Amino acid sequence: MFNIAIIGGQWGDEGKGKVVDLLSDRFDVVARFQGGPNAGHTVVVGEMTHALHHIPSGVFRPDAQIVIGNGTVLDLTKLLIELEELDEAGVKLEGRLFISDRAHVILPVMQRLDAVREGQASPSSKIGTTLRGIGPTYEAKAARWGIRMADLSDRGQLQDRLERILSGLPGREIREGGGDPGLAEEQARQAHEQWKRLERFVTDTSLLLNDWIDEGKKILFEGAQGTLLDLDHGSYPFVTSSNTMAGGICTGLGIGPSVISGVLGVYKAYATRVGSGPMPTELDDADGQRLRDRGHEYGTTTGRPRRCGWFDGVAARYTNRINRCRGICLTLLDVLDSFEEIRICRGYRIDGRELTSPTASVAEMERVEPVYESHAGWNSETTNLRRWEDLPAPAIAYLDRIGEIIGTQVNLVGVGPERTQTLVRPGSWLAEKLGT
Ligand code: GDP
Ligand code: IMO
Ligand code: MG
Repeated sequence: MFNIAIIGGQWGDEGKGKVVDLLSDRFDVVARFQGGPNAGHTVVVGEMTHALHHIPSGVFRPDAQIVIGNGTVLDLTKLLIELEELDEAGVKLEGRLFISDRAHVILPVMQRLDAVREGQASPSSKIGTTLRGIGPTYEAKAARWGIRMADLSDRGQLQDRLERILSGLPGREIREGGGDPGLAEEQARQAHEQWKRLERFVTDTSLLLNDWIDEGKKILFEGAQGTLLDLDHGSYPFVTSSNTMAGGICTGLGIGPSVISGVLGVYKAYATRVGSGPMPTELDDADGQRLRDRGHEYGTTTGRPRRCGWFDGVAARYTNRINRCRGICLTLLDVLDSFEEIRICRGYRIDGRELTSPTASVAEMERVEPVYESHAGWNSETTNLRRWEDLPAPAIAYLDRIGEIIGTQVNLVGVGPERTQTLVRPGSWLAEKLGT
């Protein structure tokens, strides 16, 4: 059995899409288990750059089966556009895309709730969501008024449920916030029409996956967002509304934990965050701007500039611990190529104490001061390197030190957005698994 999970180790945008695309030719199936169109996973294939939001990043491997699990939330308008764009790019999905009949649907009412809440929040309580309706949809799921894919087939029942939602608390909240919750009849008609266009892809994906596992098929699990945005383990309340850590795989796909062979954590060589919440190593200076410029750090989904800073070893050690990673992929190393000095945060200081792990208190996390260690830069281009052994000595020292601080070895390094711009450490867990 060889089923690997790709999990973001920071605040998202670590380059999961690239890593999944790269590894997916070794797998039969690629499955998303949580999140929705808040995700923006970039995959560069030759001359083409694709931004994926719902569809797993293994889609560019024609032999891979593509699964969107029950733990995801789907905006059908955006999903259909994504499918059309893929079709125009020559990517065929007939017979290989499987969408869970239990996945929840992001209705216009949920998106409007997201907008009203963010619009009314005070500067200190604004989460800085992607405004895609993610929070209200997961909230509806937990509160048991959500609508699942399977509920869209009966238009009459759907309209009844929507009427109750729009005349009930959610509708009232939107109206009081100055918004328009819309009409049940129109929303039911639209969702039902969209379901008809998607019906042939909708199935019991848990049943399918478990059959495939029994047949010995290999599965790659694709996480969205990052562990520091996990609903339970992230910097609550500045998080997304799903379990982004490896724990979300079982509930989000309907499979048992024993089928997961190992977790690969994806981390950037520095830190970025979009939206609000504590970020101890954030840089508001020229170095921060340099990271943003060199790394093109603007959101794939919203276009917002990402907050940038040095690698946060304390946060990374924490996310590695709770995911129990077998290895680390460190992406965007090339962004550091021209820095004379590179810093790693190895501790937090607060009120005369030193912390070795993030605390649950956001107020405390806003106050911690990073304790840095300084490393010499390598001052040379890594983008054209293709073998681990060719990396400059200071770069290898940086990678080794990050592995030491996190507690798991860096197995793979990214030196550019393309598939070929990837170096695998000889003898590492991943190299062994891939047989390279
Ligand atoms: P994801 O959400 O984790 O899939 O990451 P995003 O796609 O949102 O952001 C990562 C960005 O970095 C994308 O534009 C990728 O094309 C790019 N990228 C990924 N790996 C590398 C790398 O090793 N070097 C460089 N320069 N860019 C990379
Ligand atoms: P990928 O998969 C980075 C952030 C938002 C906000 C918080 C909550 O591309 O790594 P939400 O809309 O989910 O309710 O917003 O989470 N966020 C992401 N940040 N990458 C993502 O996805 C994100 N998805 C959500 O910016 O701070
Ligand atoms: Mg992204």
